[in-house]
Amino acid sequence: MINVLFVCLGNICRSPLAEGTFSHLVTQRGLSDKISCDSAGTHGYHVGILPDHRARRVAADYGITLTHNARKLSSDDFANFDYIIAMDESNLEHIQTQSYRSTGFYPEEGHVFLYRDFDAEADVQSVPDPYYEDMAAFENVYQIVTRCGESFLEYLIKEHNLG
Ligand code: 4NP
Repeated sequence: MINVLFVCLGNICRSPLAEGTFSHLVTQRGLSDKISCDSAGTHGYHVGILPDHRARRVAADYGITLTHNARKLSSDDFANFDYIIAMDESNLEHIQTQSYRSTGFYPEEGHVFLYRDFDAEADVQSVPDPYYEDMAAFENVYQIVTRCGESFLEYLIKEHNLG
């Protein structure tokens, strides 16, 4: 099994949307027995709760139900996940630092990515934080993470010969 972890700050907006959309794409491609995913936040402000109602609403508009309960990134995640995918550069820095503190090592090349590394249309490196914004911002995040998910899935299929 290839294990993928999506990480943002609060684990109630961007990373649960990334997880839900990616999981949907994996199922559509018939790869659920080969790829599994989860999400976590660098901070624990919202631990235990469902995603923000606006994230759930935009996902529901596209037929995706978000059921994840927020959790904080833990030291075990560095051993348990093959890929850790950051929504923005601040998340990425946090992941690097926490990996060093937890394991004594920075993540190996090719294990940690910014999700927008997989976005051909990106002119910035971050999935913008929609928390203090309106529904249009959540729709925008949905479109970005779906686009990144499609291209990340193609990358995994090639990298692991899943085709
Ligand atoms: P997320 O959005 O990192 O995409 O889940 C946020 C959620 C909560 C907060 C900030 C961003 N907050 O400050 O509580």
